Amino acid sequence: MSILKIAKIGHPILLKKADKISKFSNDLLKKNIYDMSETMIDYGGIGLAAPQVHQSKRIIIFRNPDIETKEKIHITAILNPSFQPLSNEKEDDWEGCLSIPGMQGLVRRYSKIKYEGFDIDGNQIQKKAEGLHARVIQHEIDHLDGVLYTERLADKKAFGFEKEIIEYWKNENQSAK
Ligand code: NI
Repeated sequence: MSILKIAKIGHPILLKKADKISKFSNDLLKKNIYDMSETMIDYGGIGLAAPQVHQSKRIIIFRNPDIETKEKIHITAILNPSFQPLSNEKEDDWEGCLSIPGMQGLVRRYSKIKYEGFDIDGNQIQKKAEGLHARVIQHEIDHLDGVLYTERLADKKAFGFEKEIIEYWKNENQSAK
């Protein structure tokens, strides 16, 4: 296994629509997904899309905060993923991205979604998600269409370096409540 190089904002691969996977269950695909998993863990991410490791393919991986425990990391890989909102309800929350290191932005996403795609062997996956889990999936699927979270800010001004966001936005909001 190996840790892959992450494409950073400004790299054109992050703006491209990625190609569909047509061959499942092969060794190269498995190696790609293992390497992506190792890379995500090494960088401390909770989701990663193949274009972020310079592969223009419709593969995402993510950790599921709903079922993870402190002892056990749970990573799901989905190929050719898609999602549909289950209602019009949206919520705003802070996001980061391994391709935009050190920064955070307030992003508006659907609260509840159903998503589908295929696992590594080509079996169909169909699930529902909400909250952070739904957010991660929407963020990663966006990467496959060349969309970064900076295009979806709930407020154009709600974007900046982590330290400043924590100091001037998150603390501010907490004291206002
Ligand atoms: Ni990202």
